[in-house]
Amino acid sequence: MQIGPHTLPEVAGTALFVAPMAGVTDRPFRQLCRRLGAGYAVSEMVTSRKELWNSLKTSRRADHAGEPGPIAVQIAGTDAAMMAEAAAYNIDRGAQIIDINMGCPAKKVCNKWAGSALMRNEVLALDIVEAVVAVCAPRCVPVTLKMRTGWSADERNALRLARLFEAAGIAMLTIHGRTREQGYTGLAEYDTIAAVKAAVVIPVVANGDIDSPEKARDVLAYTQADALMIGRAAQGRPWIFREVAHFLSTGGHLPAPTVAEARDVLTEHLHDHYGLYGELSGVRSARKHIGWAVRGLPGGDAFRRHMNTLERCEEQLQALRDWFDDLGQTYHRLPATPAANDEDAPADPACAA
Ligand SMILES: Cc1cc2nc3c(=O)[nH]c(=O)nc-3n(C[C@H](O)[C@H](O)[C@H](O)COP(=O)(O)O)c2cc1C
Repeated sequence: MQIGPHTLPEVAGTALFVAPMAGVTDRPFRQLCRRLGAGYAVSEMVTSRKELWNSLKTSRRADHAGEPGPIAVQIAGTDAAMMAEAAAYNIDRGAQIIDINMGCPAKKVCNKWAGSALMRNEVLALDIVEAVVAVCAPRCVPVTLKMRTGWSADERNALRLARLFEAAGIAMLTIHGRTREQGYTGLAEYDTIAAVKAAVVIPVVANGDIDSPEKARDVLAYTQADALMIGRAAQGRPWIFREVAHFLSTGGHLPAPTVAEARDVLTEHLHDHYGLYGELSGVRSARKHIGWAVRGLPGGDAFRRHMNTLERCEEQLQALRDWFDDLGQTYHRLPATPAANDEDAPADPACAA
């Protein structure tokens, strides 16, 4: 699996990516997923609006300290020149791959014709791609793009756009198998992804509703994609990557993590998380990760409510240790829990720059 000069690790002839999720896939979470089997991680979306580049939020999103390469930064915006400038700015700060967001359905983005709304304006979409490629190519930085299948069921133009984007120099395409109109509802479809894969030479990444090793195998077989991207199913279960990798290469299932391992993985993640956000903001933003980790587990709901009252790192860590140790009295391995995909559609602000 090759993106320009970068070779990505493969398992059983495919690559596993963690999806960019604003407010979720910060550096600590990306590193966690990569430790547990994801071969590649795109950072959260960074706005092309210059006036926001110095904000705390954007500078945290541009923090790649200690991250294994290639460093991929996703940019979002509506103006070709501003997008080109944003690409150059991020390359100067360490980005080795620039990813253009044409997949986000959030209103705040769509009202300004960014994200998946760009798919409806093919001329502007192509202008943006050409402007970003023009600034990245001389710096030997490949440009990739993530999009949906189209605007709506009647306007499914991913195939046409894929051909145009490939001709304009895009090095890899990720397709989320939903239209913009669907948001995160309904089911992802894989026909459009398969059609795009058959029509272009550049690598194609299949995304949408992959939440188990079997689903990963089926989507791969159906689409013939070069890589799979997993988003919501990794929330609270970052070990899904090694489970999928193991299944694709052996056909067998890895046992679920032990309760003690889940506790240790989450504890390490929280330490990294506090390191990036500090105590006040870190304790609050860690709640969602803890909530995902205990979701569906016996006593998980009550624990989540209790944990939401804690304001200090040490209290949060201790509560977590105690809770998992209690769970470990009954279970050696984590009991099975339902998949996350139906519940966790992002609120608009999560996807906004
Ligand atoms: C909380 C959240 C935030 C997201 N933010 C972004 C984003 O910043 N950029 C992007 O291209 N897609 C974003 N997405 C979409 C995901 O990358 C992915 O395409 C989508 O969740 C479908 O994959 P899944 O079914 O594996 O979750 C976001 C999704 C979620 C749930």
